[in-house]
Amino acid sequence: MRSVVIAGARPNFVKVAPLLRALEAGGSQPLLVHTGQHYDSSMSDALFRDLDIPAPDVNLGVGSGTHASQTATVMTTFEQWLEENQADQVVTVGDVNSTLACTLVAVKRGVPVAHVEAGLRSFDRSMPEEVNRLVVDALATWLFTPSIDANENLLAEGVDPTRIFLVGNIMVDSLLASLEKARSSQIRRALDLEGRFGLVTLHRPALVDAPVALAGVVSALHDIASELTLVFPVHPRTRKRMEENGIAVDPRVVRLVEPLGYLDFLLLEAEASLVLTDSGGIQEETTILGVPCLTLRENTERPITITHGTNTLVGLDPDAIRHAADLVLRGTARPSAPPLWDGRTAERIASILLRGTPEVSWLPPSRDAPAPGGSEKTPSDGQTPIGPKSTHG
Ligand code: UD1
Repeated sequence: MRSVVIAGARPNFVKVAPLLRALEAGGSQPLLVHTGQHYDSSMSDALFRDLDIPAPDVNLGVGSGTHASQTATVMTTFEQWLEENQADQVVTVGDVNSTLACTLVAVKRGVPVAHVEAGLRSFDRSMPEEVNRLVVDALATWLFTPSIDANENLLAEGVDPTRIFLVGNIMVDSLLASLEKARSSQIRRALDLEGRFGLVTLHRPALVDAPVALAGVVSALHDIASELTLVFPVHPRTRKRMEENGIAVDPRVVRLVEPLGYLDFLLLEAEASLVLTDSGGIQEETTILGVPCLTLRENTERPITITHGTNTLVGLDPDAIRHAADLVLRGTARPSAPPLWDGRTAERIASILLRGTPEVSWLPPSRDAPAPGGSEKTPSDGQTPIGPKSTHG
C-alpha cells in the first residue's frame, strides 16, 4: 500500500509527523510530498527538525503567489509527480491551498484521497480555508474528523456516513509526544523572559490585510502589555503588512520575534498566562494545555474549544479584546480533552488506511463496485465511532 502524504504549510507539518510514524509502524512506506507553499527556514525546516519528520521525498518548490496561481502551481507540479510515481492513496491534512490542490489532482487521476481534519466549518466563505475545506470534503473518500461537531457538519451537507471516521485530533498527538522535550527549550532564557507573559500570533488575511483592524488589535495589545509582557512571533505576511501600513509596536512591552520552532513555541504556549491568536490549531493546543485563549476572529471552525476548552471568541473590537483579557487574567482555566484528543489519532487513521480503499468508495471509475451499504466491509467496522448509519443505498 503506497500512501502519499502531502504537506505544504506550517500547520500541516505538525499533522503529518505522527501520521508518517503511524503508517510506518503499520508496515507501510509512505512517501512525503512537500509542496513548498511555506519555504522560509523558520516556517518549514525548523518544524521538520523539531518534529523529527524525515526529509520529504520531493519538494515541489511552489512558493508564494495569489490563491489561483499558488493552487495552480501545486496542481501542475503534483500532477507531473503523480504521473511518474505510483500512489494507492493520497493523504491531505488541514485546509491550506496545497490541501485543495493535491486533492483535486489525485481525485481526477482516480487516486482515492483521505482528508485528515475533515468536517470543520466556520460557515464563513470569505475565508480561503473554508472554501478549501468544502471542496476537499466533497471529494475525499475517507473523511477523518477531529470531533463530533465535524461529523454533524458533514452529515448536514448530505455526506454519506460511511465516509466519515471520528478519529480525534492529530495535532494533539504531536503536542503530547513533544511536551516533555519542549520543557527543556531555552527560549525563555534566550528572550530573557521572566515571570508572567502572554503570547500572540496573527496571520489571517481578514485581520492582517485590513490595516484599520490590525492597528486596532495592536492598540489593544499595548494596553494588555501594560500588565503583562507579550511575546509576538510574527508571521512573514503580518510583518510585511505592519511595515507597509506603518503599524509599529513598542518593543519594551510587545516583543516581536521571528516565527519560532515547534518546541520553543510549545513551551511558551504551555507557560503563557494568556494566548491571543487568530490561528485555528492554537485554539486546540491551548485547550489541551489549559491555557486561556482569546481568539481574535468573528467565528471559529473549532467550536469544541469553546464548549469543552479554554477558548473565548472575542472578535476584533479593541475594547472587547481588552475586556476579555482583563477577565481571563483574573480567572483560572483548566486543561480539557475533548473525546479522542488522546495522542492516538494517527494510529487510528493508519489502521483504517492500511485496510485499503473501502469497497463502498463512491469514487466513480469502478462501475462494478457494490452499492454503498451493500458491502459487508463498511468502514464503520473496528473501534472507530462514526455518525449515524447511512440512509443512502
Ligand atoms: C497559510 C494557510 C493558512 C495557515 C497558514 C499558516 C492558505 C490559504 N492559508 O496562510 O490556512 O493557517 O498558512 O501559516 O493556504 N511567506 C513567506 N515565507 C514563507 C511562507 C509565506 O515569506 O515561508 C509570505 C509570503 O509573502 C506569502 C505570504 O507569507 O505571500 C502568505 O503565505 P501563504 O502560504 O500564501 O499563506 P499564509 O498566510 O501563510
